[in-house]
Amino acid sequence: MTDLTEILARELSAARQRTLHLTDHDEPELLRQHTPLLSPLVWDLAHVGQQEDLWLLRRGDARRPGLLPADVEALYDAFTHPRAVRARLPLLPPVEARAFCGEVRGRVLDRLARFGAEDDPFDVAMVVSHEQQHDETMLQALGVRSGPPLLGAGTPLPPGRPGVAGTSVLVPGGEFVLGVDAADEPFSLDNERPAHAVHVPAFRIGRVPVTNAEYAAFVADGGYADPRWWSARGWAHRVEAGLERPQFWGAEGTRTRFGVVEALPADEPVQHVTFFEAEAYAAWAGARLPTEVEWEKAAVWDPATGRRRRFPWGAAEPTPALANLGGDALRPAPVGAYPAGASAYGVEQLTGDVWEWTSSAFTPWPGFRPMLYADYSAPFFGGDYRVLRGGSWAVAPSILRPSFRNWDHPVRRQVFSGIRLAWSVDEMAA
Ligand SMILES: [Fe+2]
Repeated sequence: MTDLTEILARELSAARQRTLHLTDHDEPELLRQHTPLLSPLVWDLAHVGQQEDLWLLRRGDARRPGLLPADVEALYDAFTHPRAVRARLPLLPPVEARAFCGEVRGRVLDRLARFGAEDDPFDVAMVVSHEQQHDETMLQALGVRSGPPLLGAGTPLPPGRPGVAGTSVLVPGGEFVLGVDAADEPFSLDNERPAHAVHVPAFRIGRVPVTNAEYAAFVADGGYADPRWWSARGWAHRVEAGLERPQFWGAEGTRTRFGVVEALPADEPVQHVTFFEAEAYAAWAGARLPTEVEWEKAAVWDPATGRRRRFPWGAAEPTPALANLGGDALRPAPVGAYPAGASAYGVEQLTGDVWEWTSSAFTPWPGFRPMLYADYSAPFFGGDYRVLRGGSWAVAPSILRPSFRNWDHPVRRQVFSGIRLAWSVDEMAA
């Protein structure tokens, strides 16, 4: 194996280890559907193997037979079978799903051992990303699940820093390079490309995400009872869905996290809010949500060099001292926990902790070209989605770049979603 194929084999194994850990439960648990918004875990498990079979063993040609009979394989097509109906499908039982995934993986590793010019490492990296993204989705399902904890309380995190909550930094106006190219980021996905220059007017952005304490002040101030903070659509949804506080918050200052009931940690970023709640909070706070273009500039642009940084803090790969990633913590870190992870502008916790809602709809960058998995992004462009940036504590560090774009319906909040504020700045006054 070459260095590159060895790295890819390692990444495949890391993703699989995580998948098997998250599905290491008894059969009834894996067949359970916790919400129509998410699949039973056993669907995710076999779907991961089915997609790997399709992309790596058949190069995306669905007309070629896979390892599963065609009618069984069809059960794992995410477009044919929406999440709400997946629990009623005649799915492979867990033991068969695991065996199928193992069989596919064995063949993929064989292929990697004799990787040739006709093979593309990008496709393998895409499959790693797909599996890791499903691992995060499975964590969402385990978060919604009721019953005694299955995953424990999570690993320790660094302490926060007082004085950073509620502060902001100025990002002066000017051009920067949005997005990335394959030459710099060979494993970037289609919607992150291509790199192109854009002008961004000056703005201020929160140094850290909005905390539980800050959000609790909005709740206590009657924010959920006052339509003036909400968009018309947001208010209609708040009323219809009966939203009164973030998902998993109790009325008495507690929250439930993966089955553990605990006091709401004041300095932890708020999570499990819809886009509409994020927008209403921002209005109440005299701010707005950042656009995703503003977010990316604050994260990667280095005004001293006039170039992008690979990560907010620089070129070094993420470590537990720089960002809360990987999923073991089972929660965001308190604000101020990663001063070494700050961007050139001094913005902290951009990577990890919570996905941050932006005000942007999901659209292609100019010059967009779909990747082998052509339906990853394109069917969603222009739909009823808002872009989330940054990556949550549940994201694997190996698949995350500051150019990574996530998107979801504005009413969703089982995702590990939070809020970062922004403010427009009068350029003359700045
Ligand atoms: Fe998928």
